[in-house]
Amino acid sequence: MSETNNPLDDPTADPFAIAAEAAEDIARLTGVDRHDIALTLGSGWGKAAELIGETTASFPATEVTGFSKPALEGHVGTLRSVRTPKGRNVLVIGARTHFYEGHGPRRVVHSVRTAAATGARTMVLTNGAGGIRHTWKPGTPVLISDHINLTGASPLEGATFIDLTDLYSLRLRDVARQIDPSLDEGVYCQFRGPQYETPAEVQMAKSFGGHIVGMSTALEAIAARQSGMEILGMSLITNMAAGIQTTPLSHQEVIDAGREAEPVISSLLARVIGAL
Ligand code: HPA
Repeated sequence: MSETNNPLDDPTADPFAIAAEAAEDIARLTGVDRHDIALTLGSGWGKAAELIGETTASFPATEVTGFSKPALEGHVGTLRSVRTPKGRNVLVIGARTHFYEGHGPRRVVHSVRTAAATGARTMVLTNGAGGIRHTWKPGTPVLISDHINLTGASPLEGATFIDLTDLYSLRLRDVARQIDPSLDEGVYCQFRGPQYETPAEVQMAKSFGGHIVGMSTALEAIAARQSGMEILGMSLITNMAAGIQTTPLSHQEVIDAGREAEPVISSLLARVIGAL
């Protein structure tokens, strides 16, 4: 957890100014002045980067202002610029800072604010998560239709009132469903983590109207909306949520399910990105 000198940790610093600096770093490192789409890769989605188009630049996220080292195995700390066959530039973010790392919401959403500062108008957020619906077997990709933020935190500072109606764009969900009509959707509940939920917490999420449980995405989506981006969220169900499955959850199970589903969901994601 010890890491020094992240400019975002100075409470008097402006996180948007730091994101603008980060975007300049990215323009310099990629030679691309403007990105059109940004894509954050969660566990299981990593192979999509290669399928979207031609990688024109790839570098460790730590070379960019404000980015932190990845805390976790199975998460790649790389940023790439990928050019699609249609000539659009996609910023692929393989470096996610999770809220459970304890560095606060500014660091969690820095990649999203940076993506917006590079020019991206579309933010695609993916994750690996637990499923509450019995019909979702591990390996099932689902669209996020809405979220419940159970972290008690927000990336917004001060009296910043932001509308979250249609946060996860219906238009983009429809684009995804044109690629794969079998895609189901559900409400994502972000817990703080890093412990998995108790069965009682999963039942609470279910009674609140939740269908997916995870430890990312909601705070990022709020920041993306603040920056005026259109958002598509997709979860890979890596396991049935605690208590829905009767066996204990393990991080290895999550990684393994992601690995197994990776070829199929990555090609789905690449086709969706191609259609945006
Ligand atoms: N809960 C929270 N986060 C997760 C899960 C889960 O069941 N699976 C993968 N990430």
